[in-house]
Amino acid sequence: MKKFEVAVIPGDGIGKEVVPVSLKVLETVAEVHGGIKFDFQSFPWSSDYYVEHGKMMPDDGLKILKNFESIFLGAIGNPALVQDHIALWGLLIKIRREFEQSINIRPAKYFKGLKSPLVNPKDFDLIVVRENSEGEYSEVGGRIHKGDDELAIQNAIFTKKGTERAMHYAFELAKKRRGHVTSATKSNGIFHSMPFWDEVFNEVKEEYQDVQTASYHIDALAAFFVTRPQIFDVIVASNLFGDILTDIGGAIMGSIGIAPAANINLNGKYPSMFEPVHGSAPDIVGKGIANPIGQIWTAKMMLDHFGEEELGSKLLDIIEDVTNDGIKTPDIGGTSSTEEVGDEICRRLKQAVSV
Ligand code: NAD
Ligand code: IPM
Ligand code: MN
Repeated sequence: MKKFEVAVIPGDGIGKEVVPVSLKVLETVAEVHGGIKFDFQSFPWSSDYYVEHGKMMPDDGLKILKNFESIFLGAIGNPALVQDHIALWGLLIKIRREFEQSINIRPAKYFKGLKSPLVNPKDFDLIVVRENSEGEYSEVGGRIHKGDDELAIQNAIFTKKGTERAMHYAFELAKKRRGHVTSATKSNGIFHSMPFWDEVFNEVKEEYQDVQTASYHIDALAAFFVTRPQIFDVIVASNLFGDILTDIGGAIMGSIGIAPAANINLNGKYPSMFEPVHGSAPDIVGKGIANPIGQIWTAKMMLDHFGEEELGSKLLDIIEDVTNDGIKTPDIGGTSSTEEVGDEICRRLKQAVSV
């Protein structure tokens, strides 16, 4: 029996609704498999925790998390209680950076049974490899309060190591897929970092003669996501560009509520973290209508990470079938609740094994 120890942080808002449903799905996966077991330990670290303790997690929070094989997180952010940058840098971004989760993988594909807003959504299947530890997300800079001359300076950090690492990851991934990498750049307008990004991309691509490449400015690339997503296989993007592209990735599938993600630690020193693309969705919290697919597909990515790819792809097939049969939440045109979608996925998982 293989046992996986998973730290669970439901977080804020709909995180607390979609995470329990996804854990039920994972328990069912373990049950039907018979040879694996999950040991979930849940932590209440969130904006509510901040209100009580003045911090998003305890001082030894990272020490506690370090012992787990992975972290399964819902979403963080409740701007009514804690300012977003305080909440996110105090938990989510802290974990990504301290645990050297330098790569964020975010797939998007044509999904059976979903009404995409695209005119011709058929057959797109792409993955954004987002650099996840540096770039535009930095604490370097500052604020100067000088009356009318008040200003804010925000520095972006692009190291050669970090940039190469993301690009190598993208090329290796493309070799296992359709052999194409697109670089998201903006070297026409951003003076230092993006010409550097292009240079590194041109160097790295020399090592992968069998992989085709393209490079588009992020503004045009974002438009191509909408007009012709079929041209993409793997896209490598900086932290911020990747963030923005992957909400579009969710939207072109039909809802950002279904888009999954994995924050990967590559050096094996720390756990990786699995959390969907979407946030805590304060506008729908408490209604029982949050789409759980983003979180459940994220659970599938965690299964892949544990080496259980076969099980993972069976789970994704079932998610698609359930959606195709109309058992879906309102954001994708259905009338089902978060729990009903989860329960139907569990039922079909059991059924798939009993036949
Ligand atoms: P959001 O992703 O929470 O919501 C954007 C829109 O998408 C909303 O209309 C919401 O109702 C809808 N939506 C999102 N997930 C959905 C789901 N599963 N089912 C149905 N509809 C869904 O983005 P936002 O409004 O910019 O941010 C809200 C809060 O979440 C903020 O505090 C923000 O910082 C935080 N946030 C956290 C994460 C994270 O923890 N990974 C990611 C993004 C945003
Ligand atoms: C995401 C989110 C986060 C990010 C925020 C909440 C800091 O938007 O995971 O996509 O920008 O990385
Ligand atoms: Mn985002």
